[in-house]
Amino acid sequence: MTERPDTAPGCPLHEAPFPLYKYAEHGEAERVWETLRERFGQVAPVELEPGLPVWLLLGYEENLEVMRDWGGFSRDTRRWCDVRDGKRSPGDDLPIGMGHSSSALYADGAEHARLIAPVADALARLSDARLRADTTRAADRLIDDFCAQGDADLMADFCTLIPAMVLNRLFGLDDHFGYALGDLTAAMWSHDGDRSAEAAARMRDYFAGLVRHKRAVPGEDLTSWMLGHGQRPTDAETADQLVTMAAAAHLPTANLLGNVLRELLADDALASDYAGGGLLLGEVVDHVVWTAPPVQVLPARFATRPAVVGGTRVAEGEPLAFGLAAAHADPRLRRGDRDEAAVPSGHNRAHLIWGAGEHRCPARAVAERIVEIGVERLRARLPGLRLALPAEELWWAPSLFYRGPAALPVEFEPSAPLPAPEPPAPERAAEGAGPEPAPEPPSDALLVRVLRWWQGSGRRARRKG
Ligand code: HEM
Repeated sequence: MTERPDTAPGCPLHEAPFPLYKYAEHGEAERVWETLRERFGQVAPVELEPGLPVWLLLGYEENLEVMRDWGGFSRDTRRWCDVRDGKRSPGDDLPIGMGHSSSALYADGAEHARLIAPVADALARLSDARLRADTTRAADRLIDDFCAQGDADLMADFCTLIPAMVLNRLFGLDDHFGYALGDLTAAMWSHDGDRSAEAAARMRDYFAGLVRHKRAVPGEDLTSWMLGHGQRPTDAETADQLVTMAAAAHLPTANLLGNVLRELLADDALASDYAGGGLLLGEVVDHVVWTAPPVQVLPARFATRPAVVGGTRVAEGEPLAFGLAAAHADPRLRRGDRDEAAVPSGHNRAHLIWGAGEHRCPARAVAERIVEIGVERLRARLPGLRLALPAEELWWAPSLFYRGPAALPVEFEPSAPLPAPEPPAPERAAEGAGPEPAPEPPSDALLVRVLRWWQGSGRRARRKG
């Protein structure tokens, strides 16, 4: 329970924060949660990058308390004491979640309700048949690129691409934009503030072009539904909202899929339980969310008044970050015998991975479908799918914010790509959509620049080569 201290606290946040970013750079962040808990208790002062301290919430209860208390802890970055005191501007190069835009993610109360309604209502209009069809087509198209080879890196060739491809389809754009989008969202989650801010700016350009295009040629897609919503969001708000959706969706979903595949490929007992019908895929996913959450640190909230969280005094305006991985490993969640595992169970859905309270994820079903269909299509299309190296040699990607395999090298029996062209989508007709005109790339000079930048990045050449 959050108490209000009588007097303003000192400033321990700025005195000796723990340099968490150093551990992330070496892929060691997961080792530090217990060290931090022993040293500071359930709330630790850490630096996300040099000179950027936040309170990291380590305890399960503390994370949940701050997520739910939107009156005491604002999502609006403009309430950050550094911004209030003129030391920073939300337009500075900042890590993900610490900047600001006109999307619902950065708003509180009535303004949040106004901005999130078009998103939530557009997502609710997505039929499961449409989601399933778009996801299956995106998965098959990616698998077609490597199925004849007999080997692949499932992270680079599949997991990091499929969320962007699916979202891009749902947003109403052609698949080749999905590759560009994937690269930009990956850069946004970088813990290099410069790279992340540059990618955010490029993403805004990308989606400003898409919004202009969909105003002119609306279709049966999330973008058009959001633009036509009764709350009448502006073009700028819609573009910002699309940036948030793409960033919020991409690497968390990619890493959840990667972590589920890793577990199924590395743990024979789990794999045979799943294959034999003893475990549902949803239960495997929930198990993985407890043991290897795809998002481990998630900024931010800002205290709207002096507070005490988990016994730690937090001054008004100080930033807090959710420590989802630390919360899921909170020893207070252990039941009975100390040797018994903490509740990482496929039967326990009380994890925090989708957030809680006002800003909880509105797209859980989309992410779950991508993971489920991704696993199903790989298993169906790649006979003999197995790791190409011992499981102990897999390593985690170095990141402060998310957690997923750096690579997932696999082998399988080579097979032929599916015959083209793809069949028409009957479910869209069933939704009354009718044939949508072929989506034109937004005729926007900035978007063209983004694509050129992406094409020159070498990533595509590496993937195709
Ligand atoms: C495994 C995948 C995903 C995870 C783990 C995840 C997790 C989360 C979490 C924890 C939040 C709350 C953030 C906060 O409280 O500050 C959130 C919010 C959000 N997510 Fe997701 N998400 C995922 C996939 C997606 C997808 C696929 C989309 C879009 C299609 C999406 C769109 C959003 C949006 C728009 C918000 C902001 C909601 C608001 O501010 O009210 N997420 N997500």
